[in-house]
Amino acid sequence: MAHSRPRRTLLAVAATGVLLASLFSGAGSAQAATTGPCDIYSSGGTPCVAAHSTTRALYGSYTGSLYQVRRASDNATTNIAPLSAGGVANAAAQDSFCSGTSCVITIIYDQSGRGNNLTQAPPGGFNGPASGGYDNLANATAAPISVGGHKAYGVFVAPGTGYRNNHTSGIATGDAAEGMYAIFDGTHYNGGCCFDYGNAETSSRDTGNGHMEAIYFGNIKVWGYGTGNGPWIMADLENGLFSGVNAGYNANDPSIGNRFVTAVIKGQPNHWSIRGGNAQSGSLSTFYSGARPNVSGYNPMHKEGAIILGIGGDNSNGSAGTFYEGVMTSGYPSDATENSVQANVTAAGYATGGGTTTGPTVGSTISLRATTACCTTRYISHSGATVSTQVVSSSSSSAAKSQASWIVRSGLANGSCVSFESKDTAGSYLRHQNFQLYLHANDGSSLFANDATFCPQAGMNGQGNSFMSNNYSTRYIRHYNNNVYIASNGGSNAFDSSTSWSDDVSWVVTAPWTP
Ligand code: AHR
Ligand code: AHR
Ligand code: AHR
Repeated sequence: MAHSRPRRTLLAVAATGVLLASLFSGAGSAQAATTGPCDIYSSGGTPCVAAHSTTRALYGSYTGSLYQVRRASDNATTNIAPLSAGGVANAAAQDSFCSGTSCVITIIYDQSGRGNNLTQAPPGGFNGPASGGYDNLANATAAPISVGGHKAYGVFVAPGTGYRNNHTSGIATGDAAEGMYAIFDGTHYNGGCCFDYGNAETSSRDTGNGHMEAIYFGNIKVWGYGTGNGPWIMADLENGLFSGVNAGYNANDPSIGNRFVTAVIKGQPNHWSIRGGNAQSGSLSTFYSGARPNVSGYNPMHKEGAIILGIGGDNSNGSAGTFYEGVMTSGYPSDATENSVQANVTAAGYATGGGTTTGPTVGSTISLRATTACCTTRYISHSGATVSTQVVSSSSSSAAKSQASWIVRSGLANGSCVSFESKDTAGSYLRHQNFQLYLHANDGSSLFANDATFCPQAGMNGQGNSFMSNNYSTRYIRHYNNNVYIASNGGSNAFDSSTSWSDDVSWVVTAPWTP
């Protein structure tokens, strides 16, 4: 659509001017309004053929929809656009649409004009957990941040979540050259397969070596890995995540855990690269640039041109991560072009905060009071392993008070979230199991860490906080018949009832009954 030559030339000139200006001034949000990453790729002769972001426009002139959300209360949908041409997403529009209920991201629109939108991934070699074997959709409020001082939301991928497009236009196939970058949360990852963004099979099945070329981010070590404990940026080329030319260990691929990570993969005949950096400052480094793996199937490549987000090529969906923006190009971008994109990204001003209500302070001891009218004297309490809400008052026994007191810990599975350790049973945490809350001793497993990690958001009814499950990201801590669950609004269990859902999932963090 909007890619005629005169405009491209104008943008090239504009981009150069802005980049020069940013070099001298340290830049600012003005840059995002005048040129975007895809303008830079276009100037470099390797235009975007897919451009996805829930946080900002990726062309300086883009004013169309960035993404669509659907709310649980009535299944209505709305599109979220940038605040201005080339600008940051209008998160306030989402907040007002989703107020008092929950929302999922249903469509991530392609800004390139090619219609390469991402939607709920269908079943493939593996089924997803949603109806019909589809993957889950992401909770739209789970990854709040700010960009250039404006609140925005990323795409929070809990295991089971995935987006895909198997009918694309303009994406590289066969051995054709392409590039891609994405911005991820470097503190949200896991060792499941495979948190990817990029080129995959159009059948959602593993059709063999070389049928994919996607960015992978996480710390799975089944195929390749680099220095430290991860996470690493690797290339998912199918039946292998490559950290360098050989499978297994490659010393030049470092662990990269910045809060915001820029990850780059690009490939052309018998040549590919891994690059990466901090999306908040500094430049990109090259972690690999060289020949294709010396294993049958990767040279030449057999790219199929589907696009995936948050899953593997065969719809493996055990991985976790957070995506903010990403593009795929036609042609192999030069390092110089990518360096300019990185300058644009750092100038855009990604930051934590997002103007959201913060949760309880890590290290403090607290109690959690229900806000539903029935139950405002009730607090989340345990008796042995059993968790329920109990009425607690100043005249309660000291045992009852300590059973309703919790030490806030950094989330066992996600440092941006929290876990609740029992005040009277050291080493035991609130965790869900079959969607009900229990107090169990930490067994050190990744499952336990996830089951015990909750991400605070503003309370759904306007009071206190709601606590999203880290691994079931459409579920929140909720009381029902005075028992405590992780519940989704209007889901299939009795405790998912939409009646008084927003009250039942809203908790006031109070001073602890037992300090
Ligand atoms: O290459 C790693 C993974 O292996 C792919 O993403 C998936 O399709 C296969 O299971
Ligand atoms: O609570 C949902 C799941 O149930 C938990 O993740 C798991 O521990 C149990 O199987
Ligand atoms: O947990 C107490 C009440 O039980 C909840 O408010 C309501 O949803 C359920 O009936």
